[in-house]
Formats: sequence, structure tokens, C-alpha cells
Amino acid sequence: MVAAHTDLNIAALEAEYSQKSPREILKFALDTFDNMAISFSGAEDVVLIDIASKITKNFRVFTLDTGRLHPETYQLLDKVREHYGIKLEVMFPDAAEVQALVEEKGLFSFYQDGHKECCAIRKVRPLRRKLNTLDAWATGQRKDQSPSTRNHIPVIEVDTAFSTEDHQLIKFNPLANWSSAQVWEYIRALDVPYNKLHERGFISIGCEPCTRPVLPNQHEREGRWWWEESTAKECGLHVGNLQK
Ligand code: ADX
Ligand code: SF4
Repeated sequence: MVAAHTDLNIAALEAEYSQKSPREILKFALDTFDNMAISFSGAEDVVLIDIASKITKNFRVFTLDTGRLHPETYQLLDKVREHYGIKLEVMFPDAAEVQALVEEKGLFSFYQDGHKECCAIRKVRPLRRKLNTLDAWATGQRKDQSPSTRNHIPVIEVDTAFSTEDHQLIKFNPLANWSSAQVWEYIRALDVPYNKLHERGFISIGCEPCTRPVLPNQHEREGRWWWEESTAKECGLHVGNLQK
């Protein structure tokens, strides 16, 4: 284990690991950081959990329950819990903040004034609370998920959005270089449990009111926050992508 992880040369590690497999990247993360967790959205990122389960029994997974997920996503969360015999750490939004938003603007304000406010309450602040307790996290982000915002994501980076002055947070994106085809090949070959929404034309999956299936040849990101401009389609979990 690395005692002072601030000593790590992240640029050098990124160069070393950028062509390595998701398994090698995740293994490095799990071996190096005692205090790291995988963030699981209840979609294709389930492959991260499967890969981790084949490396060690000792890994942590958290999810952000926005209160607005699809029933199929909740079903997958529970299935994954059972299938892998893991505890799922669940982060909920602050009740008073949700209450204030809903009482003031109703349940669908994002269709009028954009998703930022609701995402900040239901996703980003709960994520920040969790990340403040971790030294590293792993996400299922991939370059091919969004040509406009994810084309350059590294496999290892300092999380500039969630690090603080006295706490450096490392972010791993082990699937960054995998294509959707590779992810699905893995899911099918290894019989990994998946979200049933994928059987109904959904590719990228977020909250129920903000996700819809896409048409043939439409990019997966077009099914998210479809009423907004494509360049802004990050909800704040990966806001660093917009700064690059
Ligand atoms: S989002 O920012 O647009 O919502 P996306 O759905 O593409 O993100 O997922 C990318 C990665 O972000 C996931 O693989 C996961 O690591 C993390 N993530 C997204 N939503 C959640 C969630 N509700 N709970 C935990 N992690 C999440
Ligand atoms: Fe709210 Fe939609 Fe963001 Fe979910 S994706 S937190 S429902 S704005």
C-alpha cells in the first residue's frame, strides 16, 4: 500500500497505464489505495464490478440514489448486491434540499430551467460527501460515450473537480479506452447481470425523467437531457471533462 499517495506521479502512471487493460488498471487502483471505491450507476459499468470481483473479494462500491432512477435500475442494484455478495454503499440527497427544490419548483423543473440545479442536489453534493471520505474512486466513463466531452479522458487522473486544498483525490477510468462493443462482448461472454432497459433501446442510462431510448444511429448521449445542448451534457459528476 502507498502511505502518502500524493507522492504518486500521476502523469507517469497515466503514460504507463493508458494502453493497459481495464483489469490491469483496476488492479493497480485496488492494490495501491486502501481507501478507494467504485462508483456504480446501475448501467453498463457493472463490468467494473465483475472485473473487481475477479481480482479481490475486498472492494467497495457506492451508488448515488437520486430518488429518480428507473425501477429496472433499482432491480439491477439489488441483483448486483446479491450476485456478487457485496455491500452497496448508497448515497442519498439531502432531504431538506430536495424538499425545498420540489416545493418551490415541482418535480420536473429541469425541463424548464435545465438539469444543473436538480443534479447538484440529487447527484453532485451526495457524490462530494462520499468523495471527501475517499482517496481514490473508479468510474465507468468511456471515451466513446461522448465525443464532445469524454474524448480525452485519461485512465488515471487527479480529480481536479473534487480534490480539495488538503486532500488529493485520484480518479480512475479503467474502461476509458474500451468501446461499447467490448463492454457488451464482456457482459455476454461472462453472463454479467445487466439493466433490462438495455433490451428496450436504452444505451446510456441515468435518471428516469432525463433518459430516453435512442433511435438507430443516434448517439447514446442524445438519450440524456435531450432538451439541452450536447456540449453541456455532463451533470457535474465528471465536470472536469468540460474543463479539458
Ligand atoms: S453522468 O455523469 O452522465 O450521469 P454516466 O451515466 O455517463 O454519468 O456514467 C459514467 C460513470 O459515472 C458511471 O460509470 C459511474 O461510475 C458514475 N456514475 C454516474 N451516475 C452514477 C450514480 N447514480 N451513482 C454512482 N455512480 C454514478
Ligand atoms: Fe435530477 Fe434529471 Fe439530474 Fe436526475 S438526471 S438528478 S432527475 S436533473
